[in-house]
Amino acid sequence: MIPDQTVLVLDFGSQYTQLIARRVRENSVFSVVHPFDYPVAKIREMAPKAIIFSGGPQSVYGDAAPICSREVFELGIPILGICYGMQLTAYLLDGKVESAVGREYGRAEIDVIAESSLLANTPKHQRVWASHGDNILQAPAGFRVIASSSSAPIAGFENAERQCYGIQFHPEVTHSEAGGQILKNFLFGIAGCKPSWDIGDFRRRKVEEIRQQVGKKRVIAAVSGGVDSTVAALLVAEAIGDQLTAVFVDNGVLRKNEATMVASRLSDRLGLHFIEIDARQRFYERLAGIEEPEMKRKRIGNEFIAVFEEEAKKLPGVELLVQGTLYPDVIESVSIKGPSAVIKTHHNVGGLPEKMGLGLIEPVRELFKDEVRMLGIELGLEEEFVWRHPFPGPGLAVRILGEVSASRVEILQNADEIVIDEIRRAGLYREIGQAFAVLLPVRSVGVMGDERTYENVLAVRAVSTTDFMTADWYRMPHDLMDRIARRVVNEVRGVNRVVYDISSKPPSTIEWE
Ligand code: XMP
Repeated sequence: MIPDQTVLVLDFGSQYTQLIARRVRENSVFSVVHPFDYPVAKIREMAPKAIIFSGGPQSVYGDAAPICSREVFELGIPILGICYGMQLTAYLLDGKVESAVGREYGRAEIDVIAESSLLANTPKHQRVWASHGDNILQAPAGFRVIASSSSAPIAGFENAERQCYGIQFHPEVTHSEAGGQILKNFLFGIAGCKPSWDIGDFRRRKVEEIRQQVGKKRVIAAVSGGVDSTVAALLVAEAIGDQLTAVFVDNGVLRKNEATMVASRLSDRLGLHFIEIDARQRFYERLAGIEEPEMKRKRIGNEFIAVFEEEAKKLPGVELLVQGTLYPDVIESVSIKGPSAVIKTHHNVGGLPEKMGLGLIEPVRELFKDEVRMLGIELGLEEEFVWRHPFPGPGLAVRILGEVSASRVEILQNADEIVIDEIRRAGLYREIGQAFAVLLPVRSVGVMGDERTYENVLAVRAVSTTDFMTADWYRMPHDLMDRIARRVVNEVRGVNRVVYDISSKPPSTIEWE
């Protein structure tokens, strides 16, 4: 489903590629990301209103430099090259680019030195987030220099006639003070985009599309309780009503009261055809004696598939499965998939459709996470729910270090609830990227009343992050730490000590397993 007004972002390997696409959408213009060598014939077919070249870590002279076809410049579509994208523009259009020894990266200042529609309504002297390895020595013929900085005399150029622009800094990051205005200038002033991308409109079109795709078929959805699968299921339910059955498996390693909350959110309030399976015991049996994290993940993943398959067999004639795949999972670029994906095997319903011979419906595969949240609100979900921190597929099993058992799950559920409750009361939940409790496989000595105790240690983890690929430990106010520790030790039987995790990612990961 591609709206008629689309901006194409070509990915040259920048860590910010997705951010560019999101910024465009924040301006109500739809955007898609494709690799730098996306065929020109396909671009022609797509007929985007504009093309943005992302930055990238390479030099245009590098052996593996990503180079797009020169023909992209002949399509008559407005182009904005960012950092590497600008250097490539200079290189392909026969300007002069010099390979530099070092890379300049970080805060810089530029001067706007000529009138330009790209830099209209921005300060003459502005703070930017720069990044360049190569230097542009001479702009291509027909281009004029519009900005410069002390380290990059050609920090911006344009050829207004060809509607081709380049800047040696990142307008998509907030450190570039006029970045937002520059993108607006490009999208609306130069490329003539109309702000027509809107989540309500997406919902209406998608519902229609799902109806067409499904016809009279029966559909099944696995809902985990998370935002993505919930929103995906609700959207499909809106389209086809009770042709959809949503299945929720309680695997015994969910947050406290999660099963009840999922049931009321989906079944009672929103009227889905909803089946809840209490498979806690089965999962505990599969996890008994298992300490190794990857083995826990595998066992949980396989058991989930087994339970789900059994349930699906009871529903005759199911042909399609709903999946809450998001746009970042779909983009075919290696550069923006961080290391997490390979360091830990992430469990979702991967493998299910092939195994069961089901077709797929992925109703939110064009959306970024923040858009899924907006859609969730549109569909009537509460703010508090759509802004929940991520929760791993294998759940508390990877937050109980060592062996998982029903009693240890209960301890962790109770402690985790207090951690989150106190963070919410302090008004810091949205500021923190992810927070949770971890139950350690060690006991320590304490004293309660006159009694010596020998009990579990609980770790509290909170991180600041935007992409979950890197994260910094959250500087939690001491009085909040104090309230959490006191309450946990007083209210949770089995814990007599609380510690706070001060490691960042990398080299640590967010989860402990
Ligand atoms: P790490 O621990 O790799 O986590 O820094 C990054 C993000 O991924 C989540 N995570 C998982 N999510 N299945 C999931 O669905 C998993 O096995 C898994 N392991 C980690 C983690 O909560 C964090 O948000």
